[in-house]
Amino acid sequence: MPLPPRFDVLDPAVIADPYPVYRELRAGGRLCRVSPASWGVTRHADVAALLRDRRLGNEFPREDPQFQMDANLAGEVFGRIIPTMSVADHSRVHTVMVRAFSPGTARRMRERIGLLTDELLESGLDTGELDAVAGLAFPLALSVVCELIGIPGGARAEIWPRSAALGKAFTPFLPEGDRAEADAALAWLRAYVEDLLDTRRPDPGGDLLARLLHAGGEREEIVDNVVFLCFTGYETTMNMVSTGCAALARQPEEWRRLRDRPELATTAAEEFVRFDAPIQYTARLALEPIEIGDRVIRPGRTVLLLLGCANHDESVFDRPERVDIGRTPNPHVGFGGGVRGCLGAALARVEGGEVFRRLAARFSRLEPAGEPVRLPSALFRAYATIPLAVKP
Ligand code: HEM
Repeated sequence: MPLPPRFDVLDPAVIADPYPVYRELRAGGRLCRVSPASWGVTRHADVAALLRDRRLGNEFPREDPQFQMDANLAGEVFGRIIPTMSVADHSRVHTVMVRAFSPGTARRMRERIGLLTDELLESGLDTGELDAVAGLAFPLALSVVCELIGIPGGARAEIWPRSAALGKAFTPFLPEGDRAEADAALAWLRAYVEDLLDTRRPDPGGDLLARLLHAGGEREEIVDNVVFLCFTGYETTMNMVSTGCAALARQPEEWRRLRDRPELATTAAEEFVRFDAPIQYTARLALEPIEIGDRVIRPGRTVLLLLGCANHDESVFDRPERVDIGRTPNPHVGFGGGVRGCLGAALARVEGGEVFRRLAARFSRLEPAGEPVRLPSALFRAYATIPLAVKP
């Protein structure tokens, strides 16, 4: 039996553009080899099913040498955040968070998101230039998540320069040389949240910080989860908005379509999450033997569900390499799924719908004004800059 193809997450070609590699992996079989103890799952049907499969868990045994992250601060924090919590702890923290992330909360934030977007687009209307990352995606995504959590707006300017390093702190496969920078950024944000907690009161109906304090739990757990939420909340939404702006500038026919039919903003946001999944993979641990085709994943093996790869599966998505802002249905797996699926999906959808609707309403022209520059990461599909020329 031939071995499944190898997938090197750190290969510069994968980081630059994973999609040609993904195509080969899907063609090569349902599984790929990521490391001696990790399998990658390539096709949409398997990824969608395994996201909800209880034979996979999220508690990675810290004593196992394959989970080498423990050697640094990021590794310690990784073991305490909601995605890696035990079933019981996850359920406790999830219950508190879910109330703060309800579709109702997201809808209530719609107006605020609209105002923030308009404010940010104002400078583009004046100058004819817009950096879609620094001028829109980042400040919008960070402001929204900070307001939801209860982090003062002033933190924005301090988080921005540390953003790329924070991204590294939450990346499981990280070259050794990047760890010190990632730890320093993480230590800074933890200290910031610690200070903030000292001034807050527990409140069952307050912002997320107040709710978490009210629910009790250890201080370290609260600090780490607030840090995680802040980071994951802005990084992902920022990438969705950046991807959308880059795609609309690159595909003028889709931009005209959005201008003609702004109600497509909602399916457009969904499509941007499919097209370039802000989080490219999510990890689970096999708790029982899992048969995939003629192979068996043994208990104790890590299973990487390759969301970005599944979202380009040509057996599910017609012309997956093209952005189609009206794509319906769009059963992408960009938000993960199952009990560990994304808690912020409703908020992100509202945010995406609102920002692309306003973009189309405020600008008649949106074109590239230079080459977009990527931030290198195998896990997050982020940009450093997307220069645009815009016209009211
Ligand atoms: C376009 C935007 C977003 C994308 C694509 C995204 C994607 C994801 C993915 C792939 C996961 C892992 C799911 C899994 O393993 O099954 C996840 C988990 C999570 N996301 Fe999001 N996310 C987005 C926005 C947000 C926002 C705005 C927040 C909060 C403000 C958020 C909070 C969370 C939390 C708390 C988890 C962990 C859930 C758990 O372990 O129970 N996300 N997200």
